[in-house]
Amino acid sequence: MQFAVIAFFLFPIFYTAFAASTPVCTNGFTLINSKCLRLYTTPSSYSAAEESCRSVGATLVTIKSANDNQAITTIVGSTVSLVWMGLYCLDSDPSKCLWDDSTGSAGIYSNFASGFPLVEIGKCVYYSVQGALAGKWVSGDCDNDPRAYVCELPYTIAGEYIKFLFVKVLIDVSDNCTYNYNGFCYSVHSSAPFVQAQEICEQECGNLASINSEMENRYVSTLANPWTSSDWVYIGAMFPRSNAFAWIDGSVWSYNNIGPSISPSSGYCAVIGNSKTSNYGFWVDTGCSNAWPFVCKRPAGTQCPQNQPTVTVTPVPTNPSYCNSTLLLAPGVITSPNYPQNYDNNLFCSYQLTTLGSYKILLKFSGFITEPNHDIVKVYNGDSSDKPLLGSYSGNLGSFNVASTGNAMYVTFKSDWSNVYQGFSAKFFSYSGP
Ligand SMILES: *[C@@H]1O[C@H](CO)[C@@H](O)[C@H](O)[C@H]1NC(C)=O
Ligand SMILES: *[C@@H]1O[C@H](CO)[C@@H](O)[C@H](O)[C@H]1NC(C)=O
Repeated sequence: MQFAVIAFFLFPIFYTAFAASTPVCTNGFTLINSKCLRLYTTPSSYSAAEESCRSVGATLVTIKSANDNQAITTIVGSTVSLVWMGLYCLDSDPSKCLWDDSTGSAGIYSNFASGFPLVEIGKCVYYSVQGALAGKWVSGDCDNDPRAYVCELPYTIAGEYIKFLFVKVLIDVSDNCTYNYNGFCYSVHSSAPFVQAQEICEQECGNLASINSEMENRYVSTLANPWTSSDWVYIGAMFPRSNAFAWIDGSVWSYNNIGPSISPSSGYCAVIGNSKTSNYGFWVDTGCSNAWPFVCKRPAGTQCPQNQPTVTVTPVPTNPSYCNSTLLLAPGVITSPNYPQNYDNNLFCSYQLTTLGSYKILLKFSGFITEPNHDIVKVYNGDSSDKPLLGSYSGNLGSFNVASTGNAMYVTFKSDWSNVYQGFSAKFFSYSGP
């Protein structure tokens, strides 16, 4: 009797400790020796095989130990006899053969058949599943030797279970996010400015994606690809000043892939190159008001409450422009975004200036240069664009003044799709002149 009572209380606790956070594989991959592997039987060139793995965020399989090596035979079974693996040899020496996941060379562990690698035959490497060479690696012609292949994906974490009175209860629903990778769920969205993109990610209980390793960088850059033809995609990094970088999800800035085309003056928010150009996978800066597609990231196995409150992230330009500010009280300064650097294309900004009581507003432009007849500043005599237009300005105008007749002034700035300039800076004052 006493034993039964103890067992009744202890068993649930015991099971709970064992049941949390099971590693699982997504996309039809199978967990073998802590790796997610999948066999693709369609004979393909090495590059087509690599592309196919990339399209699901994977690499061709890498083999770092005898256990890993055995796993290939296990996953392939007797289906095919030769499969591409993710190793490319620059020379006929294992230490000159590099793993596709950027983790280095096969100098540490390799299992080449005798006489291999032999780059005269080919620089790519396949795995022999059967016969005398079973388990051995052999050089093959990357382009003219179509073969089956095995892809590898990091495992991820399923929802957490607890056992209560011997019944398995799912407390955190297993995550069916489409892009579940290495313990995180990713999602790709259509274009929005940076701050709005971050708000959308927060609605999913995530953030704009941070990227903390080479594998993750590959994954995020391939992930965005099938979704959008845009050359750039927002990630969750900000470059508030030159040489100061930060992930907005708070993760440590330990890995980066900042590209050669970065110019700390051009913007404060980071995008990753998404098209198959020289910028593919590299990060560069952009104006935060530009709308780009974006990638969100959240831990896998979490459930998001409805109507998640958002924490607004405000990019920190060195001088605030007050673009889209309502009710700015004189005196103050407004500028085009990024001033004195160039504004962006396809921009719209409004500024609502006010002063108290019986005062009027005097707006003094101290610098003004926009694309003539295309990028236009309009000043209205009142609190909206329904009020009379005081003036419409574009081109190289230098300094000039505009005055309201009442205590409100509404200013808009609109740039078109091409050609950007420095823009404008203007101080506004209360005054009681004529
Ligand atoms: C998982 O997907 C199924 C089918 O699409 C859906 O019915 C279910 O609600 C999803 N579960 C979660 C936790 O989103
Ligand atoms: C300012 O607001 C307008 C209208 O809400 C919006 O279309 C525009 O993109 C905003 N500008 C910036 C720079 O966010």
